[in-house]
Amino acid sequence: MMDLVIPDKVHDESRQGEALLLTPAAGKNNGRKLYIESYGCAMNFSDSEIVASILSEKGFETTTDYTNADVIFINTCSIRENAETRVRNRLREFKAAKAKNPGMVVGVLGCMAERLKAKFLEEEKLVDVVVGPDAYRDLPNLIEQVDGGQKAVNVLLSREETYADISPVRLNSNGINAFVSIMRGCDNMCSFCVVPFTRGRERSRDAVSIVNECTDLFNSGYREVTLLGQNVDSYKWTSVDGTQHVNFANLLELVALVNPDLRVRFSTSHPKDITDEVLYTIAKYDNICNYIHLPVQSGSSRVLDLMNRTYDREWYINRVDAIHRIIPGCAISTDVITGFCTETEEDHNETVSMMEYVKYDFAYMFMYSERPGTLAAKRYADDIPESIKAARLTEIVALQQQHSHIRLQAQIGKVQKVLIEGFSKKSKNDYCGRSDQNAMVVFPVDERYKPGMYVNVLAERCTTATLMGKIVPPGPLKGE
Ligand code: SAH
Ligand code: SF4
Ligand code: F3S
Repeated sequence: MMDLVIPDKVHDESRQGEALLLTPAAGKNNGRKLYIESYGCAMNFSDSEIVASILSEKGFETTTDYTNADVIFINTCSIRENAETRVRNRLREFKAAKAKNPGMVVGVLGCMAERLKAKFLEEEKLVDVVVGPDAYRDLPNLIEQVDGGQKAVNVLLSREETYADISPVRLNSNGINAFVSIMRGCDNMCSFCVVPFTRGRERSRDAVSIVNECTDLFNSGYREVTLLGQNVDSYKWTSVDGTQHVNFANLLELVALVNPDLRVRFSTSHPKDITDEVLYTIAKYDNICNYIHLPVQSGSSRVLDLMNRTYDREWYINRVDAIHRIIPGCAISTDVITGFCTETEEDHNETVSMMEYVKYDFAYMFMYSERPGTLAAKRYADDIPESIKAARLTEIVALQQQHSHIRLQAQIGKVQKVLIEGFSKKSKNDYCGRSDQNAMVVFPVDERYKPGMYVNVLAERCTTATLMGKIVPPGPLKGE
């Protein structure tokens, strides 16, 4: 059964499995070609840029054709069973290429590598190297071990590693939007979730290195950064001399101050941790986008308790009300799981009523998939039949489509500040870009404006996923 995804940049499933391109660092070409493909969340895509940076230093160049690669890396996701199935199917496809070129190195990186560890080598014979998310600095050594005829594994998790000093190679980038990791790991123990096991303990990256990276990005023409963490609201960093304490609100402010023309987005906010201070900071700076991804998972307090989300329905509603009070017009998106253990029709109806209450701008909706080793797998039976999980998913998907449409319709007749990202997917006669509230906006090309520039677009009509309109002269935006 498929998961429904309404794409945005952070959760863009159309990027799943995309091959990434890099060139070797100057003067270091080792003549070997690397093919790297990524699955899962934005964090994994961001990690692939760190891997690319480490390997380009060692002289690798990339290819988009795995059949002529010397090294194939697949950066994997374990979040749901179907994410793992996809990777295994892909590995089968690599088999034929390896049969033709026995010297080829096949490596599994990321969350599945961490979850399965050395077992991977037994399960998938063609895999030569297995590397967890905190061990990428070791990749050059591991490749050497494989060259020497051994299999290689490094799945050590770290309490410190943030790759703060590694300047990611921006892969297949449009030169306008970039992901910036601000923390790694997760200390929450949501009972359904495999991430704390695959990514280890939560740690925050040095704030100075984050601000420097954002400044460098702005100076090289980037106009939007998305700060990434599993729970950005628990970001916490103290300088070595103990004089500076930076929480997430402070970090947002520091990045917003890099330049008023640098848009700042972030993901993911956790309902238990998002503070009014963060909301006031978003409201204070025009360049911090009015868009919050606030996963609810379920509308039922009973189910939220079993999920170990540590908030209840009332708390979540209080946070949504605070967002609307402090940041009028702020867009909100969410994640929902259907058919979690013991979920009754009443629980499900509470999720539906939560969706009715918030009327989310977007939602990412999934059927519960039991993950080995998680608290839920140990404690509760996966007792909701697949057919019921699927029926509940279908129901909320249809509801969300109505809400997304209503949200976009409310923007018609209003002027949107849009950062042009490039041509629309459908036509070279149209540009596309995102509004402050993260809506995709399509409008006819005007030669005076180029990707990376901001334009005012009057929204004239919409589909369920896109606003369409035309550029209007600069001037104060409505609501300013
Ligand atoms: N850190 C983020 C979520 C990361 S995982 C947060 O706390 O919100 C992205 C989404 O995948 C989750 O929000 C959840 O909706 C979904 N998910 C995680 N584990 C899942 C599972 N076992 N089955 C189905 N969906 C799951
Ligand atoms: Fe998983 Fe919960 Fe951590 Fe999100 S906050 S990554 S859902 S354990
Ligand atoms: Fe991300 Fe998937 Fe790992 S969602 S953190 S790549 S399990």
